[in-house]
Amino acid sequence: MKYLLVAGARPNFMKIAPIHKAFSSRRNGHSTADLLLVHTGQHYSRNMSDTFFRDLGIPESDINLEVGSGSHAEQTARIMMAFEPACLEHRPDWVIVVGDVNSTVACALTAKKLGIRVAHVEAGLRSRDMSMPEEINRLCTDAISDLLFTTDTLAVENLRNEGIAGEKIHFVGNTMIDTLRQQISRAGQLPLPDALVPGQYAVLTLHRLANVDSPECLALIMGAINAIADRIPVVFPVHPRTVSRLEGVELHPGIRTVEPMSYLPFLGLVARSRMVLTDSGGIQEETTVLGVPCLTMRPNTERPITCEIGTNVLVGTDPHRILHEANSILDGNTRAGTIPDKWDGHAAERIVEVLLNQPVQAPFLVSR
Ligand code: UD1
Repeated sequence: MKYLLVAGARPNFMKIAPIHKAFSSRRNGHSTADLLLVHTGQHYSRNMSDTFFRDLGIPESDINLEVGSGSHAEQTARIMMAFEPACLEHRPDWVIVVGDVNSTVACALTAKKLGIRVAHVEAGLRSRDMSMPEEINRLCTDAISDLLFTTDTLAVENLRNEGIAGEKIHFVGNTMIDTLRQQISRAGQLPLPDALVPGQYAVLTLHRLANVDSPECLALIMGAINAIADRIPVVFPVHPRTVSRLEGVELHPGIRTVEPMSYLPFLGLVARSRMVLTDSGGIQEETTVLGVPCLTMRPNTERPITCEIGTNVLVGTDPHRILHEANSILDGNTRAGTIPDKWDGHAAERIVEVLLNQPVQAPFLVSR
């Protein structure tokens, strides 16, 4: 059988790396699976894409759609228009998509409309916030997927409550955590920037549309971060979306802004930090596994398990709340947390096992 494995944006790369690896090791064991890697080009800058391929040992993509940036409609449409001929040319049995970015929904929809089966890795996460583009992407992708691989049991419940048939759903664990477990010892040996001392700095990431595209919201958040920087240095790798939004915003000298970092140095930075302040999705999960306190500056999360049993606290964007929780951590009030079931480094192997056991069924390829 033939598979197209799709990645497009930074948070996808650590999710596909172990799947690619698990397929390759099965191939060495004489599986006839044929896997092609598709990069949509949603992220294209060196430090948003290439460095991740290098750090994670992902081979160069077989197909690059080179779509680049645009409005949501433009970007999604461009991916669909470029992916359709690739599907028609390569005639895959399965298209595998990961996460919740525009590339995920665009490729899932294109494949499904051609009659190609779709597998969604990281299915079932729900923030219940339809103002998030990612929530729309999650709902649409899950509604049309033939196989839904989940990271936790809450996601399974979400899918069952939406009427998705139980036989399509497989609770396999978290491929992003597979990557973390494979890379953590290398990452932890890299030198810290600026001679930072382990446990004596915080890490900040901020790129969510709702936070950075509203000047008022960004000013409130940065006000709280400035106050935190009075107590501890804050390393802030600035996402390209956030760079221009920060112009004119006053930053405390204790905040060290740096370019977006590649996977290994960033993992090493987070692993040795005192705490992380973020609006990312994946970092909530990584900090839970690393046992690092995480304050998530959003009103909701699609990853509630990290708050229920992990080290994550949802603090919203109220500067008083952010500062209060950060001070509490700096005063030593941290909780250990536990690691969710099956975040054990073997999720990708489980996924590949399920995929290889699916019945052969010729795609019906309807293009008009
Ligand atoms: C996308 C995902 C988001 C994910 C984030 C991680 C969607 C809807 N959003 O958001 O879920 O958390 O990636 O980064 O898919 N840009 C560059 N270089 C690049 C890519 C982008 O400079 O390689 C700039 C462009 O100005 C672009 C902007 O960043 O317009 C935003 O990029 P885009 O892919 O639209 O969304 P992200 O904010 O990165």
